[in-house]
Amino acid sequence: MSKVSGHLEVLLTPADFALLPKRDLSNAVCIVFDILRATTSMVTALHNGAEEILPVSEIPEALALAKKNPGALLAGERDGLRILAAQTGSVDFNLGNSPREFTPENVRGKKIIMTTTNGTRALQSCKHAKRVFAASFLNLTKTAEHVQKISAKEIFVICAGTFEEAAYEDTLAAGAICDLLWQQHQTNATDAAHIARQIWLDAKNDLPTALQHSRNARRLLSRPDLSQDVPFSIQRDTVDLVAELKETAVRLV
Ligand code: MLT
Repeated sequence: MSKVSGHLEVLLTPADFALLPKRDLSNAVCIVFDILRATTSMVTALHNGAEEILPVSEIPEALALAKKNPGALLAGERDGLRILAAQTGSVDFNLGNSPREFTPENVRGKKIIMTTTNGTRALQSCKHAKRVFAASFLNLTKTAEHVQKISAKEIFVICAGTFEEAAYEDTLAAGAICDLLWQQHQTNATDAAHIARQIWLDAKNDLPTALQHSRNARRLLSRPDLSQDVPFSIQRDTVDLVAELKETAVRLV
């Protein structure tokens, strides 16, 4: 039985989460989804033995952190592709943002400094909350079960989106976690939580077809090297862990 008695809110777009830095989140739990692909990659990295992920919004911040953390890997994307010297001035990032790159061979025991277009920005926007989780379909139920044990006034489910727009795949995941939390929170759910849950209920039996509505999925599917990221990222409950942002790093709970 959840100890959270307050409302359940879904933030569907980057414009919504951009307002969070000004809000008092001291009694809020935030769950961030960037299904394609940042939070899926973070969860995969931790599953495969990474020590921690340091999410930052901008490339220069990532480069500055890399100087202070010799041995850390640089990971991330712009326009979906690994960040290269042309964008940094000097350094090629070690990894892009494909969850399939975060293998045990690549990440075990490593600190990973990550910057992506939306996912790391979404995490940064709520880092002052009481608790912040990086979630994915891979660890959906584990995350929901963990959140149900936390005492807090509000739950914000944050969709990282695509550029400045809502993303279908993040809305689906938000709806899926709302569905898992529904019994306790239905009476305090916002309309956006109802919208996300309804989209999830309509789509849950055929996610590959639903993802035809996702601009991100269509973009990845059109690239032979990245197309497998889509089926990988919609696997449900394959990973038995909860990933939490504490201060500057995402780690295993
Ligand atoms: C993001 O943070 O916007 C994404 O995860 C984009 C991507 O991986 O292509």
